[in-house]
Amino acid sequence: MWPNRRLCDLLKIEHPIIQAPMAGSATPQLAAAVSNAGGLGSLGCAEMMQDELHNAVLHVRAGTNRPFNLNFFVHPAPKTSPAVLARAVDRLLPYYQELSLGAPRGDLPQMGPGFDDAKLELVLAIRPPVVSFHFGVPGTAVIAKLKESGIVLMSTATTVAEARKLAASGIDAVIAQGWEAGGHRGSHVPTDPGDGVGTIALVPQVVDAVGLPVVAAGGIADGRGIAAALALGASGVQIGTGFLSCHEAGTDAARRALIRSATDMDTMVTDAFSGRAARVKRTRYTLEMERKRTPLPDFPSMYALTSPLWGTESATQSKDFAFHLYGQAAPLNRELSAAELMRNLISETNEVLGLLSS
Ligand SMILES: Cc1cc2nc3c(=O)[nH]c(=O)nc-3n(C[C@H](O)[C@H](O)[C@H](O)COP(=O)(O)O)c2cc1C
Repeated sequence: MWPNRRLCDLLKIEHPIIQAPMAGSATPQLAAAVSNAGGLGSLGCAEMMQDELHNAVLHVRAGTNRPFNLNFFVHPAPKTSPAVLARAVDRLLPYYQELSLGAPRGDLPQMGPGFDDAKLELVLAIRPPVVSFHFGVPGTAVIAKLKESGIVLMSTATTVAEARKLAASGIDAVIAQGWEAGGHRGSHVPTDPGDGVGTIALVPQVVDAVGLPVVAAGGIADGRGIAAALALGASGVQIGTGFLSCHEAGTDAARRALIRSATDMDTMVTDAFSGRAARVKRTRYTLEMERKRTPLPDFPSMYALTSPLWGTESATQSKDFAFHLYGQAAPLNRELSAAELMRNLISETNEVLGLLSS
């Protein structure tokens, strides 16, 4: 039924639907169910330690013998200046006091780059069928090693210039992530949270700019969105938010409830949680931080300062500081098993394509 099979052929899947890798929310059960349904299941591995990653892959492999995707962040080691850290601590102090959390820590954890040699060795040992990157791509030697071992590579672009850079790097497919997307913007350098290109404008420009299969991401949650992406020249779609309400997703009860009552205006883009722009639930904290922007510690070390605000019990009860990643299309979500959602997505797309061609 698919008019464009480039992505299916590249990834060896039946349907050009990728379940987005969502660190913390995409479980091995979700990934395996999507792959079994003919799509590509993905795991967001950015925050996983070695044992956790091995264990997660073991579970995916126990659940499916079809292709799956492991996703990693590519970013430099954070290097925050003492002045920026001091200013951020001052900025957050009143929030800490409001929640009776004392004072923010005065230091940041030492962290290396996102995708380092240890991660490369791990991936080469696991040999997943597909690896995708967010925030850029590793250097040419790393790309060459991964490709030599037969792994298909994808990465995200949020602009045409980034898509061109990805095509030149030797990767196999470009994920064009529009402004509507939930989660972190995959921009290759940290960007102002006000900057972004919408999916409908971005996808055809990326298709024109690169010769590779293009995967549309951002705001796609049903067959109408998939048919639209295909009409724009995409060879497939990557859906994140739409899978957050699946039974198999790792979405917590609070976020499931929020998504159930979500509106198109629920979210905004801010770097106030992690140090990089991400589309999240709009709260008092995100609004206040964006209204008066100040330099923040580098991604991902900013998490060390903000996690007490949203991760502790007093913070959870307040809701003013809640950290929930999801996108603008959340009101289209359906609470189904991943297999049922996949069946719906495929039949809806078929129906829309049929209507458009009749
Ligand atoms: C909860 C959540 C977590 C995400 N985590 C990641 C991640 O770890 N790696 C990644 O490449 N993309 C991540 N994304 C972005 C997705 O890959 C994708 O671009 C986005 O979900 C598409 O837009 P949509 O949410 O409107 O479907 C995340 C998205 C969400 C909603």
